[in-house]
This record gives sequence, structure tokens and C-alpha cells, in this order.
Amino acid sequence: MTHSNFLRERDIRFHLHSQTNPEALRRDGPIIIERGEGPYVIGEDGKRYLDVMAGLWCASLGFENERIAGVAARAYRSLAYYHSFSGRASPDAIDVAASIAQRVPIENARIYFATSGSEAIETMIKLAWLYFRGRGQPERRKIIARDRAFHGSTIFAASLTGLPHMHREFGLPLGGIVRVSCPDTYRGRIAGESEDQFADRLAAELDEAIVAEGPETIAAFIAEPINAGAGVIVPPDTYFEKVRAVLDKYGILLLADEVVCGFGRTGEWFGCQAMGMKPDMMAMAKGLSSSYFPISAVALTPEIYEAIDAANAHGTNFGHGFTNSAHPVGAAIVREVLAIYDEMNLLERVSRQGKLLRERLSEELSDCSIVGDVRGRGLMAGVEIVEDRNSKAVFAVEKAVPAQIERMGMDYGLMLRPQGNTVTFCPPFIVTDEQVEEMANKVGAILREISSL
Ligand SMILES: Cc1ncc(COP(=O)(O)O)c(C=O)c1O
Repeated sequence: MTHSNFLRERDIRFHLHSQTNPEALRRDGPIIIERGEGPYVIGEDGKRYLDVMAGLWCASLGFENERIAGVAARAYRSLAYYHSFSGRASPDAIDVAASIAQRVPIENARIYFATSGSEAIETMIKLAWLYFRGRGQPERRKIIARDRAFHGSTIFAASLTGLPHMHREFGLPLGGIVRVSCPDTYRGRIAGESEDQFADRLAAELDEAIVAEGPETIAAFIAEPINAGAGVIVPPDTYFEKVRAVLDKYGILLLADEVVCGFGRTGEWFGCQAMGMKPDMMAMAKGLSSSYFPISAVALTPEIYEAIDAANAHGTNFGHGFTNSAHPVGAAIVREVLAIYDEMNLLERVSRQGKLLRERLSEELSDCSIVGDVRGRGLMAGVEIVEDRNSKAVFAVEKAVPAQIERMGMDYGLMLRPQGNTVTFCPPFIVTDEQVEEMANKVGAILREISSL
């Protein structure tokens, strides 16, 4: 048996994969990735793929970086582990907390560390509950989340997620979640409605939902500045300003899920800044360490910090914490990642490469009959596939068009991962003009081929 077949058999036998159809895995076997080279990953058969999605919207600096590897090795040699319980901290964790606090659009922010996006989301929810208990409003527990949102896989984060396949087998969502519409300007607008009027209608829907539920029962509204997993949904420019006005009317907190958008992805440090969103808390992960270490963070306002202080005024501890919160190696890696972002003039680079990507996609796909919409912000884009441009009708699920696009991508040497009917782009920030060209050309060829079938 070849080594490759040996690996495949063992994977099928022992490994339960995330977000994978088990039957397809048993039939087709895994895709085994062995190495990284800048924005490319290399399979165990030696084939190179340009990873259009930076893995899972995360490997912002690509898949191998000598500088970060060196920092990680030194950090492991010097202090392989320590925690943040009972006042412990490593110098790098302190430095990184200060550095994040100085970047976020929350004045005098405090930073809490966790290890995944889901944990950061859960932390924000617990802090929202703690905050309102401290203000004598313990009945404020409900959280407003949007249709088609993705906020993670732990029980409450999955409940906030607005995707049926994340709930179906698990008896989710938990109670206490209020659902409002996704601000999808391509599909959500009614005929003749401007983006601004659409934003007005969404704000009115939110207001009505709050009144129907009882404002005194609602703690927070959670949203991604740009909804990545739903297919890079960019809301109308005035959406968050209008949402914030409604929330302020009822004293409801605004929680930003910056897990994908944070750290330069939108062409601003945070998606909040790109989309005019003024949050009370922010959850960050992915780009924070370019996924070179599982680390996430929450930024909170001084008012929320004061509530934690008040809750523990009698000498008790803040009752929250993860074993690997503020991990010293993770912190050392984040420190280096942030230094590299600063040195590469990140925001300018993302804006330039993002503009080039959207321009090239628009040129390539303007005459492609199955492309309904090309959209994006910063170095994040979505190409929505339709069967009919006029009616915006989608292909029947049985045609499995997204899976076909993914398979053809691999034939072309592209690692694609469509989100529903949208081919999404979230490449590493290090992509060159030639690599942007490669993505646009190959995706153009794939979609033209599918449209002619
Ligand atoms: C917007 C958003 N929030 C939260 C999460 C959850 O992050 P994690 O998978 O690290 O728990 C994700 C993961 O993709 C995400 O895209």
C-alpha cells in the first residue's frame, strides 16, 4: 500500500471531519495538505493550490512565514505555557492586550483573550448578561441575531447562527434569540428601493421586533460588519448607523463579530470602521494571529469593565476563563503578526489588491450568464451564482453547482470554498498582482465552462 493510500484509509477510519459530508468523505477520501508556500498549499501528491480563502478566512499571511516560525520556536523555548487566572500574565500577553486596545475603535478598551472565535462570541454574551445584572436589569437576556449569520459552533454561538444546518441535528437554537433579516442588498431589496430605503426598512423591522419582544428583555444585538459566511454580504452604507439609533432608543448593546473582518480584511483595521458600526464589544480571532495559533480576543468598553468590577466588589473573582486564555506563545505570535501587518502597510495593500480583485472579477465575469452579482470590500469578495440573471433564480440543489465549482477549482489549482451559491474570495494579504490575476482568470474559466454545460 502506498503511503498516500495508508493515510487516506486511516483518515476515513479514525478522523471525524468538521463540516464534511461523511458519505462523500468515505467515497472520495480526504484532501491531504502537507505544506504551505506563501498563499499556496501543497497536497501530498505535490499539487499546488492557490488558496483563495486563506484556509477558513484566516491565514492572512499565508501558510508559511519564517519570521513567525522563529518567534514561535523562541517563545516555546522560553515559556511554553502560562495562564491568566489569579492575575498571572506573560510580558507578550500584556504587550498584545495594550496593542489591540490601542487599535480598536473603542476608547479605553479592555482586552480579554480566548482561543477561538466561538469562545470570544460566548464571552461577549456572558459579559452582556453580567452588565445588565449589574445595572439591576437581570431580565435583559435575549440576544438579537440575523438570518444567515454565522457566529460559531459552540452551543450559544451556534444558536446565534442563522443557518438551519447548524441547528437541525442538535435541537438548536436555544431559547432567547430574536431573529431579524440579513441586510442583503442584492436579494433583500424590493423593486425600486434604494439602499438607504432598504436600511430604513431593516431598522424599522428591528424596532418592531424589539417592541414585540419587550425591550426590557433584550440585552444585545450581534452582527458581523460584513457577513462573510452568507456570501460576503455588504450592508447598505447607512445600515449600522440606523441600527445603532434603534438600539440606543432601548438601551441595547451592539456586539460586533469581527472574527473575519478584523485586522485589515476590509481595508480598515476593523470592519466596524469600514461600515460605520459603533460597537460596545468586539470579538476578534482569525486575522489576529493569521491563524498561526488558536487565539481570539474580546474588546470591551470601560462601562462593561466597571460592571465586572462592581460584580466582584466583595472580593470574588470574575467567574470566567479558559485554560489557554492569553497563552504566551499565542501572544508572542500575535505580537509578530501585528508587527508584520504594520511593516507591510497593510491597509493600503489590502485596499489596492482588493480593488484589483473586484475589477478583474467584474471584467472576467461581466458576460457570464450565471453570475448575478459581484461584490465585496477590502480583500474580500463574493460572486453570486444564479441560473437566471433576471429572476435571480438559483440552481436546483440536486445540480450541486457549488460542489462542482469546488472540484473544478482543484483541477485548475485553486482552493475554492463556495458559501451557498456564492463563490467567495478572502485570499492571504500577501497575494501579488499576478496571483490576483490567476484567481480571476481561473474562476472566470470555471464559471464560463459551467454556464455552457
Ligand atoms: C464571523 C464568524 N464568527 C465566529 C466564528 C467562529 O470562530 P471559530 O471557528 O474560531 O470558533 C467564525 C468562524 O468561521 C466566523 O466566521
